[in-house]
Amino acid sequence: MEILDGKKISEQIKDEIALEVSAMKERGEKVPHLAAVLVGNDGASLTYVGSKVRSCERIGFESTLVKLPDTTTEEELLLKIKELNDDVAIDGFIVQLPLPKHIDEQKVLMAIDPDKDVDGFHPTNFGKMALELQTFIPATPFGILELLKRYNVETSGKNTVVIGRSHIVGRPMSILMSRKGYPGDATVTLTHSRTKDLATFTKDADIVITALGSPDFLKADMVKDGVVIIDVGITRVPDETVAKGYRITGDVDFAEVSPKASFITPVPGGVGPMTIAMLLKNTLLARERHNA
Ligand code: GUN
Repeated sequence: MEILDGKKISEQIKDEIALEVSAMKERGEKVPHLAAVLVGNDGASLTYVGSKVRSCERIGFESTLVKLPDTTTEEELLLKIKELNDDVAIDGFIVQLPLPKHIDEQKVLMAIDPDKDVDGFHPTNFGKMALELQTFIPATPFGILELLKRYNVETSGKNTVVIGRSHIVGRPMSILMSRKGYPGDATVTLTHSRTKDLATFTKDADIVITALGSPDFLKADMVKDGVVIIDVGITRVPDETVAKGYRITGDVDFAEVSPKASFITPVPGGVGPMTIAMLLKNTLLARERHNA
């Protein structure tokens, strides 16, 4: 069993990006500038956005954090997005999800200029992804592809089961794994909460990608020997024995499943750190496109 070490690989990717940024500076070019919009005070979102901004600083990007109260109206948020679309100093930006219930998420995502949509959530970019055109690939799926690539995990012709059909992870992941070329060319089954007898699918899978947010959901008797496991789950489970009061738990029962796996991502330290690295990669691509 080999650990797919997202922490290590994400550091490598950030080092590679930092080198590119140094070269840009030496050539007297503008460095990439990422903005993140956070509406409200959701604890997990604050942590993620904080990490994104800190990573920017570490690799030499400019960053802007736009913090708005949870009373922000949809109209006010749309105005802020227009400002960021029009601001030539900003190469790319994200609106952290989830948004407060009174705001229409899809309307907000559609207001983002596709050329600055480094999350790849705009329908134009999502469509380009499906059509195998050059675009911004959503950071979490992009991170999973990169992890598979850097560990030379075979995907061609492999039975791949994705669990969860969210617009951020499951749905794009199912499309990406079925695209032509490496890492792709897989035979993909997208399963979800309405799937009947899920285990019949997972038992036959060479690769299982879980993105449902249900701690320790995938058990050893649901997979075959040699399976590749990608665990996207990051649920905060209350734990009084640690200072934070919670621990991060994946969708996979790691202790049970890992002995059967050929490759497996740990939680934390697997997919999570890759997401941030690939968001930075997309922002670098946005800057390079604006330079071109
Ligand atoms: N919420 C959870 N994951 C993500 C992500 O990748 N991007 C944004 N904007 N919000 C998220």
